[in-house]
Amino acid sequence: MQTPWEYRYAHRTKTMGSSVIRELLKLTEQPDIISFGGGLPAPEVFPVEEFQEACNTVLREQGAQALQYSTTEGYLPLREMIARHNARYSVEINADNILITSGSQQALDFIGRLFINRGDYIVVESPTYLGALQAWNAYGAQYVSVPSDEHGMVVDELEKALRVGPKFIYVLPNFQNPSGTTLSLERREKLVELADKYGVPIVEDDPYGQLRYEGEHLPSVVYLDSKFRGPNGGHYSGNVIYLSTFSKLLAPGLRLAWVVAPPEVIRKLVMAKQAADLHTATFNQIVAYEVAKNGFLDEHVKLIRKTYKERRDVMLETMEELFPSEVHWTRPEGGMFLWGVLPQGMDAADVLKIAIERKVAFVPGAAFHPTGGGDNTMRLNFSFCNPETIREGVTRLGYVLKEQLHQNGSKPG
Ligand SMILES: Cc1ncc(COP(=O)(O)O)c(C=O)c1O
Repeated sequence: MQTPWEYRYAHRTKTMGSSVIRELLKLTEQPDIISFGGGLPAPEVFPVEEFQEACNTVLREQGAQALQYSTTEGYLPLREMIARHNARYSVEINADNILITSGSQQALDFIGRLFINRGDYIVVESPTYLGALQAWNAYGAQYVSVPSDEHGMVVDELEKALRVGPKFIYVLPNFQNPSGTTLSLERREKLVELADKYGVPIVEDDPYGQLRYEGEHLPSVVYLDSKFRGPNGGHYSGNVIYLSTFSKLLAPGLRLAWVVAPPEVIRKLVMAKQAADLHTATFNQIVAYEVAKNGFLDEHVKLIRKTYKERRDVMLETMEELFPSEVHWTRPEGGMFLWGVLPQGMDAADVLKIAIERKVAFVPGAAFHPTGGGDNTMRLNFSFCNPETIREGVTRLGYVLKEQLHQNGSKPG
C-alpha cells in the first residue's frame, strides 16, 4: 500500500538501497551463528586501556577544546601526524592535503557529491567495495567494470573502459575488499600512466594497506602518481584522491578517517563536509591523536598483524583440508577477507540459505559486481572470529558445500 510519504521522496531515493551486508549482519546476529559475513575487526585488539587513559588525559588537559566545535578540515596535530606518516612512504604532502572525515565511508559519499552527475560513468574493479556503490548509486552513477585476477584489476583492460569518458577510476590496491587481492607494482604504474593519458582521476581506497602479513609493502598509487609528476614544493597536486582510515588500525567506532588530495579538491570536500556535519567529532580526533602521538600505532599494528595472520592461516588451512576441490579461493597477503569461487552454475545465495540453517554465514559475491555476474562467488571474513571458531565455521561450510555439490550432480572432492 502506498503511504502518503511515497510521492514526497526525491528522485535520488529511487537509486538508494540498503547494503546487502548490513541486512545480512542483522540475520546473523543470532548468537549461535558463526559469521564470516561482516567486515568487523577483532574486538580483542581494540586498545581499550589506552583509550581510557587518553580520555582522562584529554578531559583533564584539553577538556573545553575537546568538547567544543572545531574546524571542518580536522584537528591540526592529527593532520600533521598523518602527513608525517605519509612522508615515510615518500609522498610529499602537508596538512593542506588532508581532510579528516567521519569514516572513509563519508569521504566516498562526498566524492560522489563532488564529481557524479546523474548518468556519469565510474570505472570500478569487478568485484568492488559495496559501500562505494551504495554511496554513488544515490547520485545516479553508472559503472564500467574492469575484470580482476589474482593480481588485482587487469589494467590491460582499462583503456577500453576509459574510452567511455568516466568521471574517475575507483581502485582498492591492497588486499581488496572483497577479493583480498593486491594490485601488482607494474599494474599500479600502468594505471597511473593511463589515468594521466586519458585525464581521468583515480580514487584510491586503502583501509588495509598496513595490514600486511607477508611479502613486501608496495608503493601506493598516490605515491607513484606524485613520483610520476616530480617534486612540487611539499604539496601534493596530482591526479589521485587517496582514502585511508583509523577503523582498522584503532577502532571503527571512532568513525575517523582521512583523505589525501590536492589542496583545491580538499577545499571542495571541506564545503561538502561543512554542509553534512560541520566537522568530525572533536573529542574523537583529539583522543585518537593522544593515543597515537608517541608511536603507539607502529607497535599496535604488529599485534593486529599477528592476530589476523593467525586467523587467516587457520581459515586457509581448514579450507584446504575440508572444502571440496571444485571450490577455489584467493590467498590474501593481508587485509581481512578472502574470496571463494564455486563451480559455474552454482549460486552462492542459495548456498547461504542452507549455510544459515547450519549456523554459518558469508556474503554471496553477486552484490559486489555492479554490472552483473559473480553469482558463484563468496566473501569470507577472517578477522572477526577467533581461530577455534573459524575452524568450526569452515568445517560447517565445507560440509554444506560438499552436500550442495552432490545435490547438483557434481562429485565432491
Ligand atoms: C574498501 C573500504 N572502503 C571504505 C570502508 C569504510 O571504512 P570506514 O570505517 O572508515 O568508514 C571500508 C570498510 O570496511 C572498506 O572496506
